[in-house]
Amino acid sequence: MKKVYIETMGCQMNKSDTERMLGMLSHFGYEEVENPKSADLLMVNTCSIRQLSEDKAYSLIGVWGKWKQENNPDLKIGFCGCVAQQKAEKLFKRAPYVDFVLGTHNIYKLPEIIKAVENGEKVCECTETHKTEDTRGFGIKRVKSVNAWVNITEGCNNFCTYCIVPYTRGRERSRLPEVIIQEAKDALAEGHKEITLLGQNVDSYGKDFKDKNYRLADLLRDLNALDGDFRIRFVTSYPTDITDELIRTVVELDKVCEYFHIPMQSGSTEVLKKMNRRYTREEYGAIVKKVRDMVPDVTITSDFIAGFPGETEEQFEETLTAIDEFELDYCNVAAYSPREKTVAAKWVDKFIPEDVKDERFQRLNKKVQENCLKSNLKYVGREMEILVESFYERSGKLINTGKTRNNKTVHVPYDKDLTGQFVNVKITGAKTWYLNGEVTKILRH
Ligand code: SAH
Ligand code: SF4
Ligand code: F3S
Repeated sequence: MKKVYIETMGCQMNKSDTERMLGMLSHFGYEEVENPKSADLLMVNTCSIRQLSEDKAYSLIGVWGKWKQENNPDLKIGFCGCVAQQKAEKLFKRAPYVDFVLGTHNIYKLPEIIKAVENGEKVCECTETHKTEDTRGFGIKRVKSVNAWVNITEGCNNFCTYCIVPYTRGRERSRLPEVIIQEAKDALAEGHKEITLLGQNVDSYGKDFKDKNYRLADLLRDLNALDGDFRIRFVTSYPTDITDELIRTVVELDKVCEYFHIPMQSGSTEVLKKMNRRYTREEYGAIVKKVRDMVPDVTITSDFIAGFPGETEEQFEETLTAIDEFELDYCNVAAYSPREKTVAAKWVDKFIPEDVKDERFQRLNKKVQENCLKSNLKYVGREMEILVESFYERSGKLINTGKTRNNKTVHVPYDKDLTGQFVNVKITGAKTWYLNGEVTKILRH
């Protein structure tokens, strides 16, 4: 067996691509190793959402290039993912020791690429296709985890003015229901207990089907009908694409969890307009309120950007008040990073100085932490079902950790490994990022 090591730097979509690539490579005599130094083939699956993520990829292959030049001339190096899609052949100039560059649209060509590279060729495959990805029946080598990620859409049509994703992932394409359902069945057969449907904008699933009217709610119904004890989640939702039918479906279906990730990006209607987000502060608030009113105990999380070009102090404060007003349970936050080709990157004269951006980023983080604790405190004293994901050691003590249906992390003292089991817990305390609980009943596994 030859040995491959893949360093995965990006979002869930990127991780899911790695699982597909490992699935294909296992058919060509490659086994995955944990130590990059022992590998014959090194691959980096890159992310370009912010400059920092892109720079991380360059510094990593710099190290790998040195290994190759100094110790191991037969080592093969592949540069994959979102940065590859964007930079293509230019990467060979920057890093001449790279053997192949593989973008996000051509993953299914990996077997041919590996063959060519083993014959000493250099290959670049970054042309944009309009197909959904296809691993030609090679399967997926999923990471050992209770949860399995299943892509339902690829790409994005929204062109938010700050975002690189439409350029690195192409136009939005929905994968066929039968392919998705088969992947979910396979994951369940392998023992996964949770299926998370994945897309940049899952609630627009099926808009591009010309021959059928089949949307996310229909897919959830079909997946809910599969045999077995498991949970279903979906991320990410675009606020104005969430339909009443989708919300009702979440309430009705027993396996679909009470959790929505609905990025707002800014609390200011003026900034939202410049971001090309298609809603106002008030419209976003109305959607969140509707979801809360219809779905008992729902958790709603969001994403925000601090220091978008031209953002005033008052506009930034509107983001802080939005987190309070809409009682957002948790938010990912990031300082704005200009990305090549995007519209906002051209507004250089409106860029916010780094120190101001950083200070806003810190204040935003503080607000998120406060609200996360507030949200967690609501559950102290309650009895909740968790699905245990793993156990680990902290300060000499073992802890089982799992998630409630509404995506709250709960730690329970360990007396045996409960990974993969559904248990009831009594919540005994709340911290910023997790709840503490005690097992009251083992339900099923
Ligand atoms: N499709 C999802 C988000 C995908 S990108 C949505 O529409 O919300 C994940 C997150 O990265 C975004 O929600 C945004 O908050 C952040 N992000 C994207 N581009 C960024 C940039 N140029 N600078 C800083 N953060 C960015
Ligand atoms: Fe990026 Fe906007 Fe698409 Fe999300 S919806 S991936 S933020 S362009
Ligand atoms: Fe994901 Fe980063 Fe690409 S967030 S889609 S890996 S740019």
